[in-house]
Amino acid sequence: MSEQNQVAVGHEYDGIREYDNPTPGWWHLIFFATVLFSAFYWIIWEMDPDAPTLASTHEKQQAAVYKMQFAKLGTLKQDEATLLSLMGDSKWLAVGESMYKANCASCHAADGHGMVGPNLTDDKYGNVKAPLDIVRVIADGANSGAMPAWRNRLNGNELMLVSAYVASLRGRNLSGPGLANDHEVAPWPQAPAKPDGQTGSSNAARPAGSTGDGVSLAPSASTQPNG
Ligand code: HEC
Repeated sequence: MSEQNQVAVGHEYDGIREYDNPTPGWWHLIFFATVLFSAFYWIIWEMDPDAPTLASTHEKQQAAVYKMQFAKLGTLKQDEATLLSLMGDSKWLAVGESMYKANCASCHAADGHGMVGPNLTDDKYGNVKAPLDIVRVIADGANSGAMPAWRNRLNGNELMLVSAYVASLRGRNLSGPGLANDHEVAPWPQAPAKPDGQTGSSNAARPAGSTGDGVSLAPSASTQPNG
C-alpha cells in the first residue's frame, strides 16, 4: 500500500502518525459469522438440556453395547458358580471393569488399591468371606452407607459383572488402606467344571468356542445358546 492513498487520522504521538486503515470487509464477514454462530451454538448447546454432549453420547453408545451384550447373557443367576465363571471370562471382566471405573474408582482407585474405600487387591477383607459376599456388599452397601448400596443403580447382571471384576482384582496385592476389621480370606474357590467340560477358571485351558458370548456361563432359564 502506498502512502499517498492513506488518510492519516490526525493525531501524532512521539512523531508516530496513525493511518486510517479500516478493517477489511472479509474480516468483518468472519467476525459477524462467528458472532452469529455463537448465538446458535449457545442456544443449542447451553439452553437445551437434552443437547448431546461427548459424555452423554458415549454413555448412550455404552448403554447400547451393554444392552446387546446383556441380551446374550440372559439373566445371570446370582450364585457362586456364575460369579466364578464370569471371573474367567476376559470379555465380561472388561464390561465389569468399565462399570467399576465409572462407579467405584472414585473411592477404591482405578487400580483398586483403595482411597476412601479399602484396598480390593489384597487377601484381606472386612465384609467378605466368600465371593458372593462381594455381590452382597455392593448391592447393600456397608458401614451405614460409607460404602453406598448399588442395588437401585445397578441391575442384577451389572452387579454380577462388577462383582466378578472386583473379585478378580484380588491377587494384584497393591499397597493401600485396609479396614480395621480386616481379616485374611481363604482363596476364592476354583470355578466349577461345566457339564460339557468347560471351566470358567481364568488359567484353565478353554475348549474352542467357550470364550464366545457368555453362553458357557452357568445358564439360567432365560439364557439361550445363540452361537
Ligand atoms: C463413596 C465411596 C465409595 C464408592 C463410590 C464405592 N465404595 Fe466400596 N467401599 C467404600 C467404603 C468406605 C468401604 C468400607 C466399608 C466398611 O467400612 O466396611 C467399601 C467397601 C467395599 C467392599 C468391601 C471391602 C471389604 O474389605 O469388605 C467392596 C467389595 C466394595 N466396596 C466394592 C465397591 C464397588 C464394586 C463399588 C462400585 C460399584 C464401590 N465399592 C463404590 C466406599 C465406596
